[in-house]
Amino acid sequence: MLPRIKELLHTAPAEQTVEVQGWVRTCRDSGSLCFIEVTDGSCLAGLQVVAEPNLTNYESEVRRLSTGCAVRVCGRLTASPAKGQAVEVRAERLTVIGLADPEIYPLQKKRHSVEFLRSISHLRPRTNSFGAVARIRSELNFAIHRFFREQGFVQVHTPIITTSDCEGAGEMFTVTALTGKQLRQPEPFQQDFFGRRAGLTVSGQLQAEIFALSHGRVYTFGPTFRAENSNTARHLAEFWMLEPEMAFCDLAGDMAVAEALIKDLVAVVQANCADELELFERFVSKGLLQKLEAVQAQPFARMSYTEAVEALRTSGKQFEFPVQWGSDLQSEHERFLCEELAGRPLIVTDYPKQIKPFYMRLNDDDTTVAAMDILVPGIGELVGGSQREERLELLEGRMRAAGLDLEEYSWYLDLRRFGSVPHAGFGLGFERLVQFVTGISNIRDVIPFPRTPGSAPC
Ligand code: 4AD
Ligand code: MG
Repeated sequence: MLPRIKELLHTAPAEQTVEVQGWVRTCRDSGSLCFIEVTDGSCLAGLQVVAEPNLTNYESEVRRLSTGCAVRVCGRLTASPAKGQAVEVRAERLTVIGLADPEIYPLQKKRHSVEFLRSISHLRPRTNSFGAVARIRSELNFAIHRFFREQGFVQVHTPIITTSDCEGAGEMFTVTALTGKQLRQPEPFQQDFFGRRAGLTVSGQLQAEIFALSHGRVYTFGPTFRAENSNTARHLAEFWMLEPEMAFCDLAGDMAVAEALIKDLVAVVQANCADELELFERFVSKGLLQKLEAVQAQPFARMSYTEAVEALRTSGKQFEFPVQWGSDLQSEHERFLCEELAGRPLIVTDYPKQIKPFYMRLNDDDTTVAAMDILVPGIGELVGGSQREERLELLEGRMRAAGLDLEEYSWYLDLRRFGSVPHAGFGLGFERLVQFVTGISNIRDVIPFPRTPGSAPC
């Protein structure tokens, strides 16, 4: 395979002949020479190719190259006299592989708005910023698997089609093989493919718990779906969620793993994607590099939900949504707490039981549960987790109160009947993590193919 531009840019120029292929980012005709910047997606920087008029296709093709054309270049890698680059290629042969008619090619050298780029999701990966997002996603994805592997976790592939609604928020997309009239008959799902109502998973947690109670430390990482009709900058109908689950672990252990993970992942991006971060610092989010430094500098701040409510009440701030003990924290509250009060990531613990799902462990006060949310500046909630209720009777009580059919969850209750142990886990929204490390404000711009209410192109 041919070397990639990332490698060539770090190769000492020894006048050797190299061959590269990629796409033209810009082409400048100086009158006596053509300077062509070629990119291949391996890194942010392009490779400068210098073409001289002695190339056989100089007049017919090279001078007419435009943004987006695909080319193969054979030439000498030499030290570059130009500023900002160590090497360049002096072309000896330049083959045009695919043209991109500048009259109709939608991407031009100028900056395009994110809204326009969303309308061409098949072409936007070719831009600097989306190219950078894709590389950061890939880097983070790999780092996640490496982190858990090093800590002795087993990856479990939890199902995408499921019959249990983990969060109990009624946001599950239905999966059905029924059509038209069949759907209008009484009890339709009894006649359906699975013999009962099935849907796309809202979380792999319940199945991850099964494996935590056999393998000790596990994680699942995959697509997650929510038919949540919220058109916000932090919600998608399809997003990726990372969910570790650990046996013999309490809330303190859960928080320690989550904090170590986030610090590790941020460090990986700082070390391996410095050029990309520089781009986002300059053009997307001033202060990004400093914000990421602050993640490493100190332990995350911590406070209980009750303390958080008190802090909001005495803040003297006017919030759109009222602050009262027993109501869920709104995004404006979360952002005030971590951005203005803590100035760094903040873990809020011990929420009222009535605003959290059935599986969270009841605290001794009988009113709060062993829950934790990690809030980060610019985003709000990045992680939601808890210690799980491992005591059979208490769990049954919570499930009845939530209106769940205990028969349907008998497998989940079996985990408490046989060899039950304290265990805990959390879910980290992968796109929110990418938003956090890039400073990109809209979640639609950190996933290759966003699915939101009313929108699912290609
Ligand atoms: O807080 P959530 O709903 O927690 C759970 O699903 C638990 N079962 C996780 C667990 O304990 N294993 O979701 C976890 C995280 C949120 O903190 C958020 O980062 C992300 O998933 N998330 C979303 N991201 C994008 N779009 C949405 N609609 C999201 N809903 C949740
Ligand atoms: Mg949550």
